[in-house]
Amino acid sequence: MDAKHVKPETIAAQALGWIDDKTRAITPPIHVSSTYLRDPDNQYRSGRAYARADNPAFDQAEHVMAELEHGAQAALFASGMAAATAVFQALAPGDHVLAPKVMYWSLRNWLMNFATPWGLKVELIEMTDPAAVHAAVQPGKTKLVWVETPANPLWTVTDIAATAAIAHGAGARLAVDSTVATPVLTRPIEHGADIVMHAGTKYLNGHSDLIAGVLVTRHDDEFWKRVKTVRAQIGGTLGSFEAWLLLRGMRTLYLRVRCASNSAQRIAEHFARHALVSAVLYPGLTGSPDHTVAARQMRGGFGGMLSIRVRDGEAAAIATAAHVALWKRATSLGGTESLIEHRASVEGAGTPAPPDLLRLSVGIEDCDDLIADLEQALQRAHG
Ligand SMILES: Cc1ncc(COP(=O)(O)O)c(C=O)c1O
Repeated sequence: MDAKHVKPETIAAQALGWIDDKTRAITPPIHVSSTYLRDPDNQYRSGRAYARADNPAFDQAEHVMAELEHGAQAALFASGMAAATAVFQALAPGDHVLAPKVMYWSLRNWLMNFATPWGLKVELIEMTDPAAVHAAVQPGKTKLVWVETPANPLWTVTDIAATAAIAHGAGARLAVDSTVATPVLTRPIEHGADIVMHAGTKYLNGHSDLIAGVLVTRHDDEFWKRVKTVRAQIGGTLGSFEAWLLLRGMRTLYLRVRCASNSAQRIAEHFARHALVSAVLYPGLTGSPDHTVAARQMRGGFGGMLSIRVRDGEAAAIATAAHVALWKRATSLGGTESLIEHRASVEGAGTPAPPDLLRLSVGIEDCDDLIADLEQALQRAHG
């Protein structure tokens, strides 16, 4: 397939048109070998030596992701966390990095409890405010600016282009956790990002049945080589079966994300006017403080994630989650089934999630069914 002349929907649906040269199979096999034969003259002309570093099971999924994100290369990882932490571990102790106050909580915890003792100078800032980024970057010292947009669990939106300009002006790279936007709605490299990160666990796979991570780089440069060395040496390597499942999931990415995003918009608009809901956090709402930037940066929708604040506080929020029948009370996001969770209970001390907040991951079920179920749960919780 000539990826330059077809739309991303076609690239994803056909996994770049892969055909097996020998068998003419249209889906790739699962390579399980942990090691590769050395040539008699002591060379490895296949380019592969050991499966902790590389695996042919990754090739097609990595090529598809590089095309969808308009990057130079992609790399699969054992989890979203393995992918994200590889970027920070490719830096050197003493390097200054900026990360958002509002971000995926496990990564924030790792930055404070592991990366900081290791030697990174981590500063958490209001990443949605370009003036705050400008004030915090230290030219020559800041090596990485980390953005998550839309960001867990408040779905705040960061202007990637504006932040990239500030980062680059200070000599830093910009990395974007684009798990929630997916390449369907935003391609961060087009806005100036150097690295894009995805928890492949979520929308890319889309079926809540694997843990995976992906990085995509704008340039195949020295830093990218270090990131891949971190993967190979620490062993944050995806399994062959998981790589195969991920590629299968990605074939329906565009359908699933558009469906979830359309439903999330409807659900947000419905509950924004609801007597038992004090606020809906969703960048697709015209009243959202993030709407202008989101409308400029996101194409064709605002994603499948939103949060609602339940009137009458934490107990009412937890009771609402207790009374749903269709929504599943579970963490994670981006699957076919809709999930609901009391986010402060998950994140614990220091969470930016208010106690009355329920995080919703909208799936691909009938949207009226989802609204009706949440409606009855809110009524019963306040009954
Ligand atoms: C936005 C975001 N980034 C990263 C991660 C980490 O991904 P994983 O659970 O695959 O390690 C998650 C997981 O919830 C996430 O929501």
